[in-house]
Amino acid sequence: MERTHYNGTLRPENVGEKVTLVGWVSNKRNLGGVLFIDLRDTTGIVQLTVREGVSIPDIRTEYVITCKGMVSKKDKPNPKLATGEIEVLVDEITVINEAELPPFIIADQSDALEDTRLEYRYLDIRRPILQERLRTRAKVVKIAHEYFDSHDFTEIETPILNLATPEGARDYIVPSRLHEGKFYALPQSPQLFKQLLMIGGMERYYQIAKCFRDEDLRSDRQPEFTQIDVECSFMSQDQILSLTEGYLKRLFKETVGVDIALPLRRMPYYEAMNRFGSDKPDTRYGLELIDLNEVLSGIEGIFPEGVIKKGILINEYSHIMTRKVLDSHAFEVKKFGVGPLFSLKMENGKLEGSFKKFLNDENEKKIISSLSMKEGDVLLFAYHHSFRPLCFGLGALRSKLAKELGLIKPGTYDLLWVVDFPMFEKNEDGSYTAEHHPFTRPRDEDLPYLDSDPEKVLAYAYDIVINGYECGGGTLRIYNRKMQWKIFSLLGLSDEEVARRFGWFLDAFKYGAPPHGGFALGLERLVMILTGTDNIRDVIAFPKNLQATDPMSKAPGSVSEDALNDVHIAIKEE
Ligand code: AMO
Repeated sequence: MERTHYNGTLRPENVGEKVTLVGWVSNKRNLGGVLFIDLRDTTGIVQLTVREGVSIPDIRTEYVITCKGMVSKKDKPNPKLATGEIEVLVDEITVINEAELPPFIIADQSDALEDTRLEYRYLDIRRPILQERLRTRAKVVKIAHEYFDSHDFTEIETPILNLATPEGARDYIVPSRLHEGKFYALPQSPQLFKQLLMIGGMERYYQIAKCFRDEDLRSDRQPEFTQIDVECSFMSQDQILSLTEGYLKRLFKETVGVDIALPLRRMPYYEAMNRFGSDKPDTRYGLELIDLNEVLSGIEGIFPEGVIKKGILINEYSHIMTRKVLDSHAFEVKKFGVGPLFSLKMENGKLEGSFKKFLNDENEKKIISSLSMKEGDVLLFAYHHSFRPLCFGLGALRSKLAKELGLIKPGTYDLLWVVDFPMFEKNEDGSYTAEHHPFTRPRDEDLPYLDSDPEKVLAYAYDIVINGYECGGGTLRIYNRKMQWKIFSLLGLSDEEVARRFGWFLDAFKYGAPPHGGFALGLERLVMILTGTDNIRDVIAFPKNLQATDPMSKAPGSVSEDALNDVHIAIKEE
């Protein structure tokens, strides 16, 4: 029996047509001798009505069936279904395949444990909402192809079995059979190869690239993810940002129907950290961090010399802020090494709270008037000797408060660039790591500080931030061999190490490297935003769980002794 229509496409216009349908039994109800079946296929659900007299085989949920019947107008439309105005009056029904009772109910709203859903992912994918997300994902990729093709970019694949790329995470490594004791690394991104394509004169490259990073997983991180990866030569930072914006504009229009005004806002890194406590600020709500150095000056005996003081003022919050709530806020900032978290609340025209005991009348008045505190307002604040952890701690508190206070309107989009990132981040031990990656070009005007004060050097680096997610990032690249070597040295690599690990790459710079730059968008993060989920696993057909395992196949698995011998590996007994 060949299907004549897709179930979810039937409408009142089809009334009177004879149809043959296929699909899965989503639901079944028997009412007074009449059997109602919700039949699901990839386009949606239609109601089948099987009246008395029709021979009905044994039918259960998730059976695959086919039926013939006539489309008919429903007496009582079901507004919840796109096909809700019609039903199909069935006169022949056949079972194609039986099904065991699924381990969870297949419906958009599921309360099954995520690991159970991942173990039976093929059943989970039967949920319309998941299919919809996978379709949106496909659309994001399709629009990328169309957009970058139309801007004369060439799609080029780069290798998966590589020498390590230094993107900051741990590599997934693959032992070599032919070369005992040697390993390939899976790409953390195609960074080096896309730069070599520029040196190769391709000028405009893009790729929907698989990337692999062995790092701690989070709700927006997977060990295996996809980038829309772009590189171009002879383009300025502004041109690269406009190119990216053009793609995002089309993307939002064609997926969620939202018009994005261009150019997008560009916020320097320092401002993002200082005002929002994040290098990926969500600016859909206030609760900005306030500088309290001046306001809290003159208070004796509590603040260590030279610390920075910042806080958040929350209006009409004192009735919500119980001891327990305050403890949970303190716990949040502590994750960033920040604490104690002090509180001051305005009650009956006076300040109360954990910091009250450090205040005299004069301090109290100064705080109230400087911050224009009103009845019910609460000031939460902390100090630290270092700017970054203090901002990050309070930034995390800011997001927590926004969620708890319901300050974020669903379905709203906030896009901005964060620019002017520092080139280096100083580690506890005084060494430096690259804030983006070591191929990032320092700003011309900051070159004089490279030797004297590396922390002061800003880079031609930019991140696209959407709703508080880092959805992509890029940089202009170093195209001078000496400069690239110098940056590696500043990052603590010896000449011998640079030569051994990157000599092959740096050699290419001897032969006329063009100025170049690019970016990579995190495909999954874009799809998360466009489909309104905060779980990256919702937008990947077969994701790994938070332990980086696949609950379905149970990967990673062990391999046979022979397979290990082939690649010259022996497992150490712990
Ligand atoms: P970066 O490391 O910033 O840059 O990665 C680019 C974007 O990829 C996404 N992303 C991830 N998504 C899911 N899971 C992960 N584990 C994960 N890690 C990163 C983020 C991020 O913004 N080669 C450079 C780009 C360039 O300079 O051209 C790079 O990979 O959305």
